[in-house]
Amino acid sequence: MRMHQGSAGARVLAFGGYQPAKVVTNDDLAEMVDTNDEWIRSRVGIESRRIAGPEESVADMAVAAGGKALAASGLTAADIDLVIVATCTPEVMIPNTAAVVATRLGITAPGAFDLNAACAGFCYALGAASNAIMAGSAHHVLVIGAEKLSQWIDWTDRSTCIIFADGAGAAVVGPAEADDESGAPAEAGNGIGPVVWGSDGGMADKIYIKDRDSFIFQEGQAVFRWATTALHPVALQACSDAGVAPDELAAFVPHQANLRIIEAMARKIGAKNAKVATDIVHAGNTSSASIPLALSRMIERGELASGDKALLIGFGAGVCYAAQVITIP
Ligand code: UT7
Repeated sequence: MRMHQGSAGARVLAFGGYQPAKVVTNDDLAEMVDTNDEWIRSRVGIESRRIAGPEESVADMAVAAGGKALAASGLTAADIDLVIVATCTPEVMIPNTAAVVATRLGITAPGAFDLNAACAGFCYALGAASNAIMAGSAHHVLVIGAEKLSQWIDWTDRSTCIIFADGAGAAVVGPAEADDESGAPAEAGNGIGPVVWGSDGGMADKIYIKDRDSFIFQEGQAVFRWATTALHPVALQACSDAGVAPDELAAFVPHQANLRIIEAMARKIGAKNAKVATDIVHAGNTSSASIPLALSRMIERGELASGDKALLIGFGAGVCYAAQVITIP
């Protein structure tokens, strides 16, 4: 039997993000449904969001974000041997988005699959990429979260149309060296920490799209309660598994679902020295794109430095959740 040579750990080499050009403000929405800027800002924290044009597909946005991450990584398309696209809003069921995106980026014959863990998708995909690199089944992985939620929104439903938005974020992941000559797995200090992931299908009726003719439905209060009470232990477990104390975190980048959830989680985790991602303010809730999009923008703005430790946690429909500590490239 021929064994593949794995790596002691995995690390993010670069991030990239893409947002569609069209800005939709709260006032724009107030012309369409019975809502107002003050309610949306105070209950959700969103001031504006980006919505894709009618001709702009999930794959288009994934290619844009993936291309930026690839360029920033210093690698070429020939170096990538696995592409994972986390999305819950693919254009079509088959073919998968990942294979099409890979070809458009000039990546020849990589492993390619889509992953649906809704708003937890990026953290699941990052965990899968990291594990594939450590197992030796991939060397460099392009991980993308991309969503066009606008095509699954009922634009007359004020409980959802004010929240969800479109965009894409991507990361290039590669091998990390062992911490020492013993070959012990690289810790979060130089890579991606162990993923802590889970789900509860008993809450499947809290967020769903029933069928191809339906719109997204969310029982907002139930999801809010769950997110603010059940998830901080998952985040703390990810810190502990990575050997990083919460007060050592330079950044806390949770899924951008609601500013009140973000702030409550940050308090409960005790990440008192961490810069907390608040990308939701101008990006809305972009599901699996929200975490890599927030990270790429924080890096672009110079808010994070190379070597900083960041705690990520994604959560959403399923319900599914996943968290890990990463080192900023
Ligand atoms: O990304 C996947 C994970 N998703 C989440 O984590 C989302 C979690 N949930 C939430 O973020 C919040 O529950 C929402 C933002 C969805 C809703 O906020 P809320 O504070 O839970 O509001 P609510 O649904 O309890 O509604 C409060 C009131 C209601 O009016 P009454 O019955 O008190 O008279 C709603 O009808 O606000 C009303 N309302 C609105 N008013 C103005 C609901 N939507 C709107 C709106 N504008 N857009």
